[in-house]
Amino acid sequence: MIEQSEWNRMNGHKGKVLWFTGLSGSGKSTLAAETERELFRRGIRCVVLDGDQLRSGINRDLGFTDEDRNENLRRAAEIAALFLSVGFIVLVPMISPLAETRSTIRQRFGPGEYSEVYVKCSLETCEQRDPKGLYRKARSGLIKQFTGIDSLYEPPMEAELTVDTENEPAEQCVRLLVDSILQDCRS
Ligand code: PPS
Repeated sequence: MIEQSEWNRMNGHKGKVLWFTGLSGSGKSTLAAETERELFRRGIRCVVLDGDQLRSGINRDLGFTDEDRNENLRRAAEIAALFLSVGFIVLVPMISPLAETRSTIRQRFGPGEYSEVYVKCSLETCEQRDPKGLYRKARSGLIKQFTGIDSLYEPPMEAELTVDTENEPAEQCVRLLVDSILQDCRS
């Protein structure tokens, strides 16, 4: 089996997992996609593991109970670990609402292999944005266990990076992410 260090040498950079946590509508997927594009332009090997995408495929047997969310995130972490083992930058935009689950995910990775990114945006603003109309459905009871409405979201206390999509333009958030990744993966 080819060692991670050999992949890193061939890729010309180290791999890393960036785990984006935040409410629905906070901008996780948009920021991850834009960051991927910027890294791609610079020849960095990267991949996005998006919650919605995984839930329509490998995780389609799972719902939104705490138990199912934990399993959803555990599987995502295992997939992220596979990409990491071949030196990819892995961007994982998933709500990941509970601190304990995030802590378990963090422990799955070695030192320097993992950073938590808090995509910070108030519930009020996410609800105003409501890009998929899900908050409206949750408020009217059509969707149950919706994060921030009738399911808990615990903001992270130990995120390595925080991007405030409520007060900073997306380009600025992406620049912060790209700069941080480039610094880490080329050192
Ligand atoms: S989790 O909590 O990390 O397991 O969630 P995740 O896999 O990231 O999936 C979040 C997306 O699922 C849609 N959706 C819901 N989100 C939260 N709560 C409920 N009940 C729910 N039902 C459907 C929604 O599109 C989320 O995507 P984002 O991009 O976060 O808006």
